[in-house]
Parts: sequence; structure tokens; C-alpha cells
Amino acid sequence: MTAKRQDRSSRAVIATVQRLESLERAGVQLLAKPGRSSDLSSTAAPEQAPVAPVAAAKPASVPVETAASAPRAPSNSNDSLAIIRQQVTACHLCDELASTRTQTVFGVGNPNARLCFLGEAPGADEDRQGEPFVGRAGQLLTKIIEACTLTRDDVYIFNVLKCRPPGNRTPLPHEVSNCRSFLDRQLSLIRPEYICCLGAVAAQTLLDTQIPISRMRGKYFEYRGIRVMCTYHPAYLLRNPAAKKDVWEDMKMLMRDMDIDLDKPAARG
Ligand code: URA
Repeated sequence: MTAKRQDRSSRAVIATVQRLESLERAGVQLLAKPGRSSDLSSTAAPEQAPVAPVAAAKPASVPVETAASAPRAPSNSNDSLAIIRQQVTACHLCDELASTRTQTVFGVGNPNARLCFLGEAPGADEDRQGEPFVGRAGQLLTKIIEACTLTRDDVYIFNVLKCRPPGNRTPLPHEVSNCRSFLDRQLSLIRPEYICCLGAVAAQTLLDTQIPISRMRGKYFEYRGIRVMCTYHPAYLLRNPAAKKDVWEDMKMLMRDMDIDLDKPAARG
């Protein structure tokens, strides 16, 4: 097989696996064989599965259901962050992103983190440096993490998209869907107890909803046994500093749930 044909067929395999994973997330369990009369679209669950907030705070006397104890998709024991990173680096599923990026931006931080921060997509600084949240919004995120008595090395930071959309435009639906399995595989390996979604794109993508971020913030949601807090994106805070107090309320609520005492800085994993 020529290198070009091999490249085409491995892209087709990745695209097929990602499509099947997307259908599985949408609730599809059986696919009709081609040629049968059944219409796939009529059997698929709606793309926008209803999402409901879970209990606002864990009751003090009830053990917290951790990601490790909760039901979740089985992770492939041969998978690793290094393998996913390589596949991300080689990914050309989105023609426009692959042809305009300087490099892909995978994720950074503690691979055993209790808490992951999920953003939207790399910007110009991240595209140049190959690391998420290193520009102005990233510096604000670092301050937020430090105000929580944590460091960037305690948590894991990543994005819905691993490539910069040109001009920092909003990710397109097919780009989000092409990148989705990378995100889910990262989560299956890290197995965090908490995810903090930064902004509407992260929150709506992870939870498969169209609810505005202003209505999702300050509540807990659940994704595959992981407690999810949604809050405003740091880039939004740079434009609207008045919203910083809301984000701080969300962070205090999250730290309380994680049993992190904001008055006692400590080294944490
Ligand atoms: N905004 C994001 O959502 N992610 C980054 O990595 C940087 C800015």
C-alpha cells in the first residue's frame, strides 16, 4: 500500500471509530445493516440529551461517589496519554484546522489530577507554544487555580479542540465531533473526580446541551460519574471583570466539595 493510501485508510478508520463513538454517546446501540429499510435517524436518540443538575453539594455524612467508583465507559487498557497525543499530532480530520495550525495543543498537568479544567480551543499563544492556556486568559486561569491554593501542576488543563480555529472563531460542530473522542479518552485515562468547564463551548460540548452558561454555572452536573462544575471562561472575565465574583463563588463551591480548605495552602495531587 502506498503511504498516501495508508494515510487515507487510517483517517477513514479514525473517522469511523469517532462516528460510532458519537452515535453511542447519543444512545444508539444497534445499527441496521445497509440495504434494510430502517432509517438510522429515526432510531437514534436525540443529539441533545436532556441534562439535569445533580445535588448542589454533597451531604457531609454521605460518602462522595468518586469517578473511580462510579459506572463509566470501560477504558482501553492499552491506551495512554502518549498514544493519544501522537494521534492528535498526526490528526488531519479537520482540513482547515490541520492546514492552518502551527501545532496541536494536547493537554498539560497532572495525569492523575482530581480536577481537570476544560477550555474551548487554543488561541494564538497556545498555537505558538503548544500548551493550553498560556496567553492572557491562561494567565488569569493560573491566578484562579492559585487562589484555590492549587498549582497548574496539581490539575490537568485541556481543551475541546486540540487545534486553533483561524482567527479564534468558535469551533464548528464537525470540528467538535471530530475531536470528541480524544477528549473522552483523556478523561478515561485521567479519571478525575471533578471537571471545571470554562465557558459555554466546554460546558455545552461536554454535557451535550444548549443551556446558556449563565444558567449552568454554580451547579453540579455529572458526566460519566465525574462531578462537573461550569463557570465563565477567563477570556470572558477579561472583557467583563464584574463577572469575576461569580467565578470566585463557583470556585469556592468547588473547593468546598473537594474538601480543599482555602485557608490552608498545601501540596496536592
Ligand atoms: N482559551 C481556551 O479555551 N483555551 C486555551 O487553551 C486558551 C484560551
